[in-house]
Amino acid sequence: MRGMNSATIDLIYLDPPFNSKANYAAPIGSQAAGAAFKDTWTLSDVDIEWLDVIEKSHPQLWRVIMAAMTDSDKSYLIYMAIRLLEMKRLLKSSGSIYLHCDPTMSHYLKLVMDAVFGRDMFLNEIVWAYGLGGSSSRFYSRKHDMLLFYINGEKHTFNKPLIPATSQRMKGQMKGATDVWQIPTINNMAKERTGYPTQKPLALLNRIIEASSDIGCFVFDPFCGCATTCVAAHNFGRDWVGIDISEKAADLVVERISETQGSLYENIIHREDIPQRTDLGPIPKYNSIENKHELFGKQEGKCNSCDECFKIQNLEVDHIVAKSKGGTDHIGNLQLLCGHCNRVKGDRGMKYLRERLRLAA
Ligand SMILES: C[S@@+](CC[C@H](N)C(=O)[O-])C[C@H]1O[C@@H](n2cnc3c(N)ncnc32)[C@H](O)[C@@H]1O
Ligand SMILES: [Zn+2]
Repeated sequence: MRGMNSATIDLIYLDPPFNSKANYAAPIGSQAAGAAFKDTWTLSDVDIEWLDVIEKSHPQLWRVIMAAMTDSDKSYLIYMAIRLLEMKRLLKSSGSIYLHCDPTMSHYLKLVMDAVFGRDMFLNEIVWAYGLGGSSSRFYSRKHDMLLFYINGEKHTFNKPLIPATSQRMKGQMKGATDVWQIPTINNMAKERTGYPTQKPLALLNRIIEASSDIGCFVFDPFCGCATTCVAAHNFGRDWVGIDISEKAADLVVERISETQGSLYENIIHREDIPQRTDLGPIPKYNSIENKHELFGKQEGKCNSCDECFKIQNLEVDHIVAKSKGGTDHIGNLQLLCGHCNRVKGDRGMKYLRERLRLAA
């Protein structure tokens, strides 16, 4: 996402891992065989780095994350928060976003969404009542997911879906959809079933895409799985981008679209490199003189770790989050450290550095 230009997307649907503490794998022999993803979370050094970045630039969001009950929940929310911040940047001011989640984390995710997009931007909590699935003798059977629907500014596209009325009195008529959606999950025999774990029905994505975008709009799914969003967007004449960490997902995108669209799939570009933003102009090299001077002023001539004052030539530009861990060359991810602190830190995070300096003191 960091390589995509700002304010270019009309509609985002995301169906990320839910913090279910489960690991998912597709059945052998299914179209999706080989696909797997983990949904277990522990607080890592990388999370702490991001938390530091969030604390500095997004204090409200930081407080929401700190309110989580366990380290596992915190880790999950940090993971979601840094991605949602990036999604906000990508969304046009007229855009909409639907975050698909379930009751495991929906209450925390709503706070995160409020902090990222603003409370005023919240429009609906949609209940997707899907019917099928397990039951328990200890509690009411869990039969719904939630979609948190937010916008990114004043004006947004909304074509209210019309669905067949269910009441006897209005039989045969259409009425405007409410925030409770009765759409069955894909059953095992359905033609659209790929075997991909957590595959969502096309009917669900069709409704979202028709309601919140027009022909020619740009639809984006950053956790696209077996491409349900991409296929639905394609069928409705929208442009689309899907991202998934799983190799298998990328194969399934091409397979599914080519099944429905024949040779048209040749228009699909599958890339594994990180795209370069073209809306920023050239970013200076991370250790350029202009970066150094700007950081020197911001840090008032002090090393950002030990707080000692140094001459500018004795300070070195460091990536706060190492490039190997997803950090960028952008000035927001840079700091000046004295030679000693920089050497101790290496590719590790600031938490490690502080701990080492504390022990040495
Ligand atoms: C709940 S599934 C999405 C299912 C999708 N809506 C569909 O209908 O097939 C979540 C997806 O997120 C992907 N994923 C997990 N971590 C990711 C990450 N860090 N970046 C991108 N994708 C990720 C998984 O591979 C999985 O495909
Ligand atoms: Zn220092």
